Amino acid sequence: MASRDQFRSRIGFILAAAGSAIGLGNIWRFPYMTGESGGGAFVLMYLLIVMVVGVSLLLVEFSIGRHGKANAVDSYAKIHKGFAWIGYLGVFTSFLLISYYSVVGGWTIYYTLKSATGTLTSLPADQIGNFFGGFISQPVLPLFYHLLFIFLTAWIVAKGISGGIEKYTKALMPLLFIMLLILLVRALTLPGAMKGVAWYLKPDFSKLTGSTVVAACGQVFFSLSLGLSGMVTYASYLSKDDNLISSSFVVAMTDTLIAIIAGFVIFPTIFAFGGDPSGGPGLVFISLPQIFTKMPMGAFFAFIFFLLLVIAALTSSISIMEVCITFFVEKVKWSRLKASVFYGTVCFLLGIPVSLSFGMWGDVKILGKGIFDLFDYFCSNISLPLSGLACAILVGWFWGKEKALAEVTNDGRIQSNVAGLWFFTVKYVIPIVVGIIFLQAIGVLQV
Ligand code: PHE
Repeated sequence: MASRDQFRSRIGFILAAAGSAIGLGNIWRFPYMTGESGGGAFVLMYLLIVMVVGVSLLLVEFSIGRHGKANAVDSYAKIHKGFAWIGYLGVFTSFLLISYYSVVGGWTIYYTLKSATGTLTSLPADQIGNFFGGFISQPVLPLFYHLLFIFLTAWIVAKGISGGIEKYTKALMPLLFIMLLILLVRALTLPGAMKGVAWYLKPDFSKLTGSTVVAACGQVFFSLSLGLSGMVTYASYLSKDDNLISSSFVVAMTDTLIAIIAGFVIFPTIFAFGGDPSGGPGLVFISLPQIFTKMPMGAFFAFIFFLLLVIAALTSSISIMEVCITFFVEKVKWSRLKASVFYGTVCFLLGIPVSLSFGMWGDVKILGKGIFDLFDYFCSNISLPLSGLACAILVGWFWGKEKALAEVTNDGRIQSNVAGLWFFTVKYVIPIVVGIIFLQAIGVLQV
């Protein structure tokens, strides 16, 4: 077999991993989850879980991947045969996750086009909700954009790691950050913005229930791209000299910072325009354009912003897809192209019911949830935490301290005073914390 592809530079890997982490999860999902779960208390819980569980699990995935140098299934099996199932679960979850991720990705493409033509920002601010609702409830049009989004993802992935993924993520992430800062200034200076800031920052602990904690934990996994083996897969393309410890810090911190800033953009805007923070998945698609209508050159800024959001979403969706592609190429011996076409087709089909659940099939309920909610709940709150839990047990109890620390310190070449604490967290803290939250998520525990 030809030698395996590799990331060409350290910064290339960090940006690809950060690109995977930063996506719709930060700008679309984090705000509406916060909105549905009551604001400040959710945000605090989120930050706590990032610090205790998120950063550590990121390092867990990086170390398993770099040690394995193979698709996720083989990387887990290399440490212990009995854990290969985490890789299969990742492959399965990847299909479900991308199918709704790309429906929303399609919305961002539509918004980019509607900004370019000026249609979006020519609407009165109070009409944007109707505009959005009118679009997503259509049977065919959103599916077209969903397909386009999948096509773009598959196209980049088919080109491989260094020529595709690495190249496309490098340039654009910093630009997204700058755009967010511009929006931040505008949002905070809207009349009435401070009510939103207060709502966002003031924790109301009476809102903190078992299901809020489940949601916060799910959001951490979703946003940091944990529990899908995506980070395992990316790290499998790393060379031996990278510093995994600092990479996991950098990735977790940038991802968190962007989500927090997104909240500072969205909530002041919602309060300034009298919207409802618990408005669900449509939240940012309504509130962001409202800011743009209140800005000079709003159409221009809207266009740039949504374009960057499309790119941020793509750098995440390619990592979701790469889990399966590396698997199909190495285990089923398909070409990258064949694997990409197959994957793209299945995901398109799976996305159809998801998209329709925002319109005609809005009343269809399975296990008491709409189709979109069901897919999302299964992925974020069940599958991702379950494999995160299993990864921690694998590293803490089966790989063992000596080997795990050798991997993360590059055989002792990196001096680190956090490595020991990391291992302790992985072995004891994560299994207990994530274990309890998982039992709550599947309904065994009820707090
Ligand atoms: N982290 C990505 C986002 O926030 C989504 C993602 C989840 C990517 C799981 C890979 C694995 O948009």
